[in-house]
Formats: sequence, structure tokens, C-alpha cells
Amino acid sequence: MKNKTYVRACGSGFQSSRREKYGNVFKTHLLGRPLIRVTGAENVRKILMGEHHLVSTEWPRSTRMLLGPNTVSNSIGDIHRNKRKLVSALATLAACLVSVTLLLAVSQQLWQLRWAATRDKSCKLPIPKGSMGFPLIGETGHWLLQVFSKIFSHEALESYLPKIQLVIQDTLRAWSSHPEAINVYQEAQKLTFRMAIRVLLGFSIPEEDLGHLFEVYQQFVENVFSLPVDLPFSGYRRGIQARQTLQKGLEKAIREKLQCTQGKDYSDALDILIESSKEHGKEMTMQELKDGTLELIFAAYATTASASTSLIMQLLKHPAVLEKLREELRAKGLLHSGGCPCEGTLRLDTLSGLHYLDCVIKEVMRLFTPVSGGYRTVLQTFELDGFQIPKGWSVMYSIRDTHDTAPVFKDVNVFDPDRFGQARSEDKDGRFHYLPFGGGVRTCLGKHLAKLFLKVLAVELASTSRFELATRTFPRITLVPVLHPVDGLSVKFFGLDSNQNKILPETEAMLSATV
Ligand code: HEM
Repeated sequence: MKNKTYVRACGSGFQSSRREKYGNVFKTHLLGRPLIRVTGAENVRKILMGEHHLVSTEWPRSTRMLLGPNTVSNSIGDIHRNKRKLVSALATLAACLVSVTLLLAVSQQLWQLRWAATRDKSCKLPIPKGSMGFPLIGETGHWLLQVFSKIFSHEALESYLPKIQLVIQDTLRAWSSHPEAINVYQEAQKLTFRMAIRVLLGFSIPEEDLGHLFEVYQQFVENVFSLPVDLPFSGYRRGIQARQTLQKGLEKAIREKLQCTQGKDYSDALDILIESSKEHGKEMTMQELKDGTLELIFAAYATTASASTSLIMQLLKHPAVLEKLREELRAKGLLHSGGCPCEGTLRLDTLSGLHYLDCVIKEVMRLFTPVSGGYRTVLQTFELDGFQIPKGWSVMYSIRDTHDTAPVFKDVNVFDPDRFGQARSEDKDGRFHYLPFGGGVRTCLGKHLAKLFLKVLAVELASTSRFELATRTFPRITLVPVLHPVDGLSVKFFGLDSNQNKILPETEAMLSATV
């Protein structure tokens, strides 16, 4: 395919050069503390399979404070206590993404700035007391897993699907009717925020209030990793203020939701949690509900917005991929030859029959993985790739570097969805070569929801919208705070009836542009 010649040029060169210099396991520093960075399927497998006995996770203090008292971070170590609250389920959900997206990316940036380390095979330096403390959080107890399995069960996803589709259709209509180009990354953030509020939490907040809540929410997110110093005008203080405002808005929405249970045709994630808490003999307090919902919004927001933006960018860069996707939709009766959109609502089995769509989403997640990796604290000294990994140190397993160096992928930097097709199935050999959602016991619990969202977005884009890059060249990609295009990706959307799915000559010309 012609487009295969276009390769990614994303901002990970600094890390890859260090990896090339120092190998798959090397010691570095983050904020003055030692950190061991780990790449490669075998090494990553050992970290991920070593959860609870070799490694564990920890939250930074400012994040713990701003996320509120009912987070899983505050219940670490409480796993054997009956006190552990159901809201931890929500907190885990959200906290995961706080950590795996912003925190990891921010820390990665700091790490780049503070990097002063050399590879030290013997690791003889004194072991610091405690770790520098990076996530992930949460002890996913047995019953919590049961709750999660309900929230992300096939049945639950099927019931979220029409709502997700509606939210996406509405958004695309708004994008298409906008006279100017839109900033895709910014709008994707709003879209995933809306999805969390409307679909997962089932809140019916008026659009205007939703817009205001989103602004406050962004302020909260911007300050969630600030130094925990509560001084006037400090980021931490702004974070606390944003959190208070958000919680007021959420309390109002929760109260309205609790009062108005009639006429609902499905159970959202919040309903399932409230119900499950009752089944476990625990009534959640308003504070727990507020903390939990705030974090759940976060969980559904940053990574999915990053992946959505990458998806749109890749469809723009590779019109032949978009056309092949449209062919698949046509073949399944989801897109008629004239280009008119699919009628009716999508179903899970329809989506799972779209194999090329699956390949496209997988390839976006491989090459533009929103989460660069996961942080762990070492519980007991162990050996990795011939090196001692000392107890108490911090380890970061790198998803992005592992994808970049996986020998199973041919032309690793090329965007080529067919690598996941039946004929090649490049991911079939060794499951830790491809891990956009992590792995082991802490594998992403929302991955099916995230993939579902991305698939619906791709189907709706392919069947209802024509879109063009509004700048001369594609923007550069930055990894901070999550992977996204610098300046957000400016795109002009049109309804599909204004064009018959043609690949425009201008778009063809743009293909030569570098990212
Ligand atoms: C494209 C979107 C997403 C990506 C790339 C992603 C990625 C990840 C990764 C890499 C991890 C493991 C981190 C580690 O090992 O430290 C993780 C964990 C997790 N994710 Fe996601 N995630 C996404 C969307 C979501 C969504 C939408 C939800 C829920 C609404 C969610 C909920 C979780 C939870 C609860 C965990 C923690 C699991 C545990 O600790 O047991 N994720 N995610």
C-alpha cells in the first residue's frame, strides 16, 4: 500500500537514543531518585507477572490529596480490612488513568530534564528509603473485580453502545456544521468528557453547565500533579478550588440522578456501583460518590481523547486506509454505495465482525500508544536481564519502547493496519510485545470500553463525515502530558453528502508532509 511508506516521527527520539546506548534495562533518575527503565517483552513480562510479590505501586502525595479521601490510594494496605469502600472501584478506575496518562507523561518529561544517570549494571548505590512512588494504585480485591466485570461486561457495553453512538453522532454533526476548522485534540477531550458524564455516569447536565464543568475540570487536571504546597496562587491551591467547584456540580447531578430513576432504559456504571454497594451491605456516602465520579470522569477522559485524536490523524494521513474501512462498512451494509450513512444503531456483534476496523484501531494503539508505561516499586530484589533490581527502587516498564523494538513487527515505524490481519497476525507471537493496555493483573479494566468508543468513532467518521487537514502540514507529536499533536490538529469537517468519499488531491499532496 502506498501509504505504508509514511513513517511516524514522534517525539520519542530522546528516549530511544538512551535505550540504544544503554540497553533494555538501565538506571536513570526521576526527581533525584533512582528509577530503572525496562523495555522488551521478556523483561516487561517479568514485571507485570511479578505484581504483588516482586513489584507494587504507589501514588505521589499531591495526587492523593487532590483526588480526595476516598481514592484507592488512601486504601492501599487496607485490602484485608472490611472498611474498604466500594467507591474504591470508581477510584481505581480513575486513578489508573490519572497515573497512566498525565502522571506518567509528566514524570517522563521531568525525567528527561533531570536525567543524569548512567547504566549501572551492579546497582551498588545505596537503596533509597521507600520508593519515589508512582502509581498504579488500588488493590483490586476479588469482589471489586466482580463489580468491574459487571461495569465492563458484554451486557453493560451493549447497553452503553447506543448512547456512545449518539454522543459521537451529535459531536460529529456539530463539528461538520462548524464554519471553521476545529481543534481535534481539544474537541476530543470534550467528547470523552461528555461520554463519561452522559454515558458512564448517566448525568443529564444541560450543555451550557457541561461546558462550564469541563473548563473547571481542565483546571483541576492541570494542577493534579502540582507540588503539595497549599499557598495562595499555588497550583495545588488552584487544584483544590477546582475540585471543590467540581464537587458542587457533581453533587447536584448525583442528587438529581438519585431522585429521578424512572424512565431509564439501561444501567450506567454509577448505577452498577451503587447497586453493588447495596448488595455488599454498604451504602455509599455522598462524599464517596463525589470523589468516585470525579475520578471516573478522569479515567474515561485523557487516554481515550489521545487515542481518538491519533485515530483521526491517521485516517487523514492514510486515505487508502479510510477507503478500505469504508469498503468494509459497505460490504456489511453499514455504508451504502452513494455514501449515505448507516441507519439504525450499531450492535456489539456488528462491530466485532468488522475485522479491518479492528486492525486499524490496534495499529493506532501500537504506534501512538497514549500511555508510555507503568511505574512500580520493587518489593524484593530480583534479577532482570542479568541485572540486580534492588528492593525499594522504582521501575518503569515502557510500553512505547517495547512496541518500538518488538521484533515481531515488520517495519515497526510504518502505519500498517494489515499487520494485524489474519494473513500476517504479527501480534500472535508473544503477548508482551504488544501491550497498549498494559498486562497482567493490572491490565486496563476499561480497555473494551475504550476500544468500543474508538470503533464507533471510526465507523461514524467513515460513514458520515468528510474531513480535511486545515494546515499545510501535519503537526508534530508531543508526549506530554499525553501523546497528542502540538497545537491540537486543525481539521475541517463536512457532512458526507457534500462529497462522495473521494480522496481529495490536496489530501494526497499532504501525504508527503512529515508529522
Ligand atoms: C485508549 C484508552 C486507554 C488506554 C491506552 C489505557 C491504558 C491503560 C494501561 C496501560 C493500564 C495499565 C497501567 C499499569 O500497568 O500501570 C491501564 C490500567 C487501567 N485502566 Fe486503562 N486505558 C485506557 C482507557 C481506560 C478507560 C476508558 C477506563 C475506564 C473507564 C480505564 C480503566 C483502567 C483501570 C481501572 C486500570 C487499572 C487496573 C488495575 O490497576 O487493576 N482505562 N490502562
